[in-house]
Amino acid sequence: MASPPPSTAPARLVVLVSGSGTNLQALLDAIGDDPEGFGAQIVAVGADRSGIAGLERAERAGLPTFVCRVKDHATREEWDAALAAATAGYRPDLVVSAGFMKIVGKEFLARFGGRFINTHPALLPSFPGAHGVRDALAYGVKVTGCTVHFVDDGVDTGPIIAQGVVEVTEEDTAEGEAALHERIKEIERKLLVEAVGRLARDGYRIEGRKVHLGHVGE
Ligand code: GRF
Repeated sequence: MASPPPSTAPARLVVLVSGSGTNLQALLDAIGDDPEGFGAQIVAVGADRSGIAGLERAERAGLPTFVCRVKDHATREEWDAALAAATAGYRPDLVVSAGFMKIVGKEFLARFGGRFINTHPALLPSFPGAHGVRDALAYGVKVTGCTVHFVDDGVDTGPIIAQGVVEVTEEDTAEGEAALHERIKEIERKLLVEAVGRLARDGYRIEGRKVHLGHVGE
């Protein structure tokens, strides 16, 4: 699977959030007022809940937002189709799940598979799922980190784009998940910005589990 050939227009990004949105903010800050230089622009921010800091960040940046809540739909499939339709309305080249705490379904993947990116706070394939930081800490690993990957139909199983490593210290063991997660997020934000920028500027192709960055056809 290959991305479209890079063009001079910045890639259109829809970012999905569920919480504080610091990864979204890192993208906003990196793009700044030079989407051409970064290679991408955020065209909308979507969420699965209202009243979150992530949406406030989007509004402060003057971006359109949308909220698609599971409980407003009769079935999970209907929610998935509504999320896919709302996202498609902004004609994204790439969709970024930046702390979006929902597993999307068939319809969303049919539309955005191969251009839907997630960031996960552990070194996949270890510790997938909603509690990656806690699970790594409980296992007693000495290093953990974060993974930016394409989303497939498994839970955090798609092809890996980039990873960052964070050492687990004695203090983490004592202080617990929150302190370690904060240190992971410092690395994660930089990793996500770099990965999105490179995908948008340089193009990419996915061959099986391997992601190759660089102009398609080179
Ligand atoms: C990130 O660590 C992400 O990997 C995880 O939730 C966190 C989101 O943070 N799924 P934020 O909302 O971007 O601040």
